[in-house]
Amino acid sequence: MQNFVFHNPTKVVFGRGSIGKLSGLLPEGKRIMLLYGGGSIKKNGVYEQVVAQLDGHQWCEFSGIEANPEFTTLMKAVEQAREQNVDFLLAVGGGSVVDGSKFVAAALKFDGQPWDILAKGAAVKDAVPLGCILTLPATGSETNPAAVVNRSEIQQKRSFISDAVRPQFAILDPEVTYSLPKRQLANGIVDAFVHVMEQYLTYPVGASVQDRFAEGILQNLIELGPQVLDSQDYNVRANLMWNATQALNGLIGVGVPQDWSTHMIGHELTALHGLDHAVTLAIVLPRVMQHQRDAKQDKLLQYAERVWGLSPYDKDSTIDLAIEKTELFFRQMGMMTRLSEHNIGDDIGEAVAAKLRENGLEKLGEHGAITPEHAREIVMASL
Ligand code: NZQ
Ligand code: ZN
Repeated sequence: MQNFVFHNPTKVVFGRGSIGKLSGLLPEGKRIMLLYGGGSIKKNGVYEQVVAQLDGHQWCEFSGIEANPEFTTLMKAVEQAREQNVDFLLAVGGGSVVDGSKFVAAALKFDGQPWDILAKGAAVKDAVPLGCILTLPATGSETNPAAVVNRSEIQQKRSFISDAVRPQFAILDPEVTYSLPKRQLANGIVDAFVHVMEQYLTYPVGASVQDRFAEGILQNLIELGPQVLDSQDYNVRANLMWNATQALNGLIGVGVPQDWSTHMIGHELTALHGLDHAVTLAIVLPRVMQHQRDAKQDKLLQYAERVWGLSPYDKDSTIDLAIEKTELFFRQMGMMTRLSEHNIGDDIGEAVAAKLRENGLEKLGEHGAITPEHAREIVMASL
C-alpha cells in the first residue's frame, strides 16, 4: 500500500427530515447565498424546507445553474455574491449545483482570472466557505474537494481540486430523490460505479481494505440498480445515496493507484456533444477495460471473481465476460453504451484526441501510459 494522508472533515447529516437540521448547521452572522439549478427544488418541496430554515439569517439566492454547470452562469453568481457581500454559500441540488458553487466559492477569493483555475490549474488556496444539500446521489461532490465546470462556447469541460472548496457540511435526505426521473437515477448509479472502478481497476498494491470496500460498493450498486429504477423504497434510496457518497469521498482511493482515463475521455465527449456525464462513462469504461486488459489483468481477474462471481478457468474469456457483464449492467440501467446510438460518427476519435492534446492531457491512466492516440482508439472502439 502507498503512503497517504486521509482527512475528510465534511459533516454528513443523513436521513429523513435532515433538511430540518439546516439552521443549526449554518454559521451565525453570515450573508448566505442559496444557489440552485433549473427549478427541480421548487417542484419537490425542497426549496420551501430550505427557506424555512433560513429564517433569521441574512440571505439571497442565485438560480439557473445548469447540468454541466456553465462558466458564464457561475461568473454571474460571482458578480452577484460580490455585490451583496456574500460570505457563505449554500448549494442545493445535484453535482452540477454543488460543483458550480465550489467554483463560485473559489473565484470569489481568487486573485486573477477565475478561468485560470480550470484551464491552467492555478492553485486555489482560499475560498468562501460552503455547505450543501444534495438532491441527486451520483458524483460524491457533497464531501469531496473536486469540481467540474463547462464552458460550452469554447467546448471545454475542466476540473479543479482544492481542499478549500470541500463542503463544511452535507445534508443527505434520501426522500429528496423520489422526484428524480429514471434517467438521472441511472446516471447516479453508473457514475458512482465508475468512480469506484477508476480507483480500483488498476494494479494490485496489497490494499485489502480499499479493495474489499470498493468491491462491496460495486456489488451494492449492481444489486440496488434495478430496485432503484423500479421503486421508491426508502432503504433502497438511502443505500444508493450512501454508496454514491462513499464511492468518491476519498476513502477507497487512499494508498492505491488511480486511473481516471474514462472520466477524462468522457469529459471531452460531454464538451463536444453535450452527453450526460454518466452516459459518457457507460460508453467509454468497457472500451478502456478492453484496451488496457493486459496492464489491468490482475485486477480484472480479481474484479471478475469477487464482483461477478466468475471462476478464472481461462483468463482471457473470464476478462471478456467481466467486461461484457459490466456493459450489460449499464444497459440494464437504460444507458446506450455506443456512440453510434447517440448519432455520433467516425470523426469523434480524432476530435477527442485533439482536445486531450490541447488540454495537455497526454498521459492518462494509472501508469500515465494512455496517450491521445490510445484515447482515439478507445473512442473509435466505442462507436
Ligand atoms: O437543475 P435542476 O432543476 O435542479 O435539475 C437537475 C438537473 O436537470 C435534476 N435534479 C437534481 N436533483 C433532482 C433533480 N430532478 C428532480 N428531483 C431531484 N431531486 O437532475 C439534473 C441533473 O443534475 P446534475 O447536478 O447535473 O447531475 P449530477 O449530480 O449527475 O452531476 C453531474 C455533474 O457533476 C460532475 C459531472 O461532470 C457533471 O458536470 N462531476 C463531478 C464530480 C465531483 N465534483 O467530484 C465527479 C464526477 O465524476 C463528475 O465529473
Ligand atoms: Zn463521474
